[in-house]
Amino acid sequence: MLDAQNAPAAPVIVRREDYRPPDWLVPEIALDFDLGAERTRVRARLKVARNGAHDRPLVLDAEGLTLVEVTVDGEAAEHRLEDERLTITVSTAAAVVETLVEIGPRANTQLMGLYESGGILCTQCEAEGFRRITPFPDRPDVLSRFTVCMAADKAVYPVLLSNGDPVGAGDLDGGRHWAEWRDPFPKPCYLFALVAGDLVANRDSFVTASGRTVDLGIWVREPDLSKTAHAMAALKASMKWDEETYGREYDLAVFNIVAVSDFNFGAMENKGLNIFNSRYILADAETATDADFDAVAGVVAHEYFHNWSGNRITCRDWFQLSLKEGFTVFRDQQFSADMGSRAVKRIEDVRVLRAAQFPEDGGPLAHPVRPESYIEISNFYTATVYNKGAELIRMMHTILGPERFRAGTDLYFSRHDGEAATCEDFVRAMEEGGGIDLSRFRLWYSQAGTPRIRAALASDDNGAATLTLSQQVPATPGQTEKQPMPIPLKVALFGADSGTKLEERLVMLEEERAEIAFSGLLERPVLSINRDFSAPVVVEAGRDLADLAFLSAHDDNAFARYEAMQQLMLDTLLRAVSGGPADHEPVIAAVRETLANPALDHAFIAEAVLLPSESFVGDHLAVVDPDAIRAAREALRVALGSALEGQWRAAYSATAANRFEYSPAAKGARRLRSVALGYLLGAGAEDAAKLAMRQFEDADNMTDRQGALTALVNSGAAERNTALAGFYDRYRRDPLVLDKWFTVQALSTRDDALEAVEALARHPDFTLSNPNRMRALVGAFAANQRAFHDVSGRGYRFLADMILAVDRLNPQTAARLVPPLGRWRRFDEGRAALMRAELERIVAAPGLSKDVFEQASKSLG
Ligand code: ARG
Ligand code: ZN
Repeated sequence: MLDAQNAPAAPVIVRREDYRPPDWLVPEIALDFDLGAERTRVRARLKVARNGAHDRPLVLDAEGLTLVEVTVDGEAAEHRLEDERLTITVSTAAAVVETLVEIGPRANTQLMGLYESGGILCTQCEAEGFRRITPFPDRPDVLSRFTVCMAADKAVYPVLLSNGDPVGAGDLDGGRHWAEWRDPFPKPCYLFALVAGDLVANRDSFVTASGRTVDLGIWVREPDLSKTAHAMAALKASMKWDEETYGREYDLAVFNIVAVSDFNFGAMENKGLNIFNSRYILADAETATDADFDAVAGVVAHEYFHNWSGNRITCRDWFQLSLKEGFTVFRDQQFSADMGSRAVKRIEDVRVLRAAQFPEDGGPLAHPVRPESYIEISNFYTATVYNKGAELIRMMHTILGPERFRAGTDLYFSRHDGEAATCEDFVRAMEEGGGIDLSRFRLWYSQAGTPRIRAALASDDNGAATLTLSQQVPATPGQTEKQPMPIPLKVALFGADSGTKLEERLVMLEEERAEIAFSGLLERPVLSINRDFSAPVVVEAGRDLADLAFLSAHDDNAFARYEAMQQLMLDTLLRAVSGGPADHEPVIAAVRETLANPALDHAFIAEAVLLPSESFVGDHLAVVDPDAIRAAREALRVALGSALEGQWRAAYSATAANRFEYSPAAKGARRLRSVALGYLLGAGAEDAAKLAMRQFEDADNMTDRQGALTALVNSGAAERNTALAGFYDRYRRDPLVLDKWFTVQALSTRDDALEAVEALARHPDFTLSNPNRMRALVGAFAANQRAFHDVSGRGYRFLADMILAVDRLNPQTAARLVPPLGRWRRFDEGRAALMRAELERIVAAPGLSKDVFEQASKSLG
């Protein structure tokens, strides 16, 4: 029997260079579950085959299992269970190995393996959860055909689901029943799934390009059934889109999705049986914001797309994680762009990259898109592997163009179907299919750190100009020497007088420095660079405020136009933070012009006029000063609010709510309306709080209601408490909406945010055991730069206390809260010392998980 006491003591470092093919293969596995929440018995029948000539024993991973019996070819077999490994002597080249174990789903608070959520039994196996269900070579390059038989109490668990197709079901004595599922596609065990529960389905069907009908089911608890229509529409749209865009057809007769309330991350692409965090399935106008609707569609698409980029072709080892995740994120980003506004989607994706990945890439946890080592693989489901990984695929798409890119993916899918592949395999398919040499591009997979580009444009009076580019890749942990990267930069020049485009090209910066010549320019050129954010880099182009304002009005690339406005705002804020004179005029003029431009849609305007976040400003300072940043940003917000009060009012009434509709135009109107309301409150307009309260009360959708609540919560208005209490009373029984109530307060810009958060942690609706609730309060708070970095250090202590408390239940969720403390190098000595002290306290805590140990010890580094 295994328990915490005989878990390995010293953390083991796993290295990419140590990869060896598996000693044993398992072409087939039959699983037999006798399900119960307190106790589940799992019988596994493995057909094993020796892989190559060797005499090593069969070693199976096994974690937290109570072992009852082991046989080989029907005979009791010699075996040893030690350090989470079950070693079995097998003398033949092939054999049938049977194990019987017991597990306790209800006691499983880690939410890895088989666990209970709201009375439903469900599984999560990626990355290494299958070993918590049954002994198995738990690595992605062992592919098996699965047969799964489940028996359970029929009243408690009327629905029994697993991967593949249902092949039989029936009743048993004592109110029990059984069901059997078979998955014809060999798969790694991390894609295994099982669900047992009292669920109902939204059922639909999809006819594939070749005419096969697929039965679709989205399974939820009965009261949630009315909230599944949007997810179903997104699923069908994804299936069609993948056929049209990548030529990928679905391959089973059944596709099921199950929503559960307790889930460590977003969702999981198990073959034919995706399991989702309910927040990425359930949506209706009353309870979900437009952002929630978009996230549901994006995650449904992401998990569906994994069926090809992840399942049909999986990863050889976990260092290759970005092979499936980076590619699949790119695919879901393309899908969402095609379904809505391309420009706004790009703005949102870049915002996420800058908020989550750039700080990671510049801090103690920086790692390449294809990491070299890990202690706990769960810590590497990062913004670098996912979002920077997606940017790598996007750069290849930009360099190759859509047709040659598609030729590359066609080759990749056909060449590696049914295999466990590597990032190198993907790049090679792109090279051969796309007809291009990507030798140097491979550096993007191996070198960590965000490249910094300097760009200077010099022009003369004879119509000639030179663009001088240089790059520098900063040192990151374990990588001090860097080579220059190949960087695709979309560049354009605009005429300063006419505002028209003079030139446009894709520049490949291959070396450390390059000079690009332009000629025949009839007016002074203004530089537009990294248009569409063609490369995940930081560009310092040294353009003055006037040129930025000019681009914010004239650039014909929507992203670049947004970017120019952001840079204008950022430069203005940075000047104010460093004590310079606060000249708000250029920003006010540019925002005025944007608001008045009839050619722009509401959604784009709303993004463009939004001030950069406090943490984004902080990322551009040598030493982050949270209070000075807040003050500078607040002053600019107030100035914009008052100077343009008439226009905010006009924008507010022009976007007045009609009946709820989920269309790009209606979404854009709602977005601009909330932004305008925020500025009106910032301006201290007399009636602003009343407007907000009316919006709060009259709203027929969550976007408007939450927008009004956020504006009020950040204000000192008397209506604030009425709105908070009203929101709580209305939604206290809906956990996903109650999460919003916690988050809005955790992100409050008021001086009392820290005390409020400490009090909310004692609220009866707060719980450590639900990851969504944890992130809603604690995760959001750590993103509230000013409150979290309160000079007293109380914010740091609060976070560390939470990490240690959650770690005892759920190490993965705890480890995800550590990175904010690791940013200590970016702060003044006083704050840095307080942050380090909390990290040291965490590392010294007895019984710490390896998840938190890895993140906290590396953060001290
Ligand atoms: N493969 C899943 C997805 O892309 C996420 C699994 C996360 N696993 C983990 N251990 N963090 O959506
Ligand atoms: Zn994924």
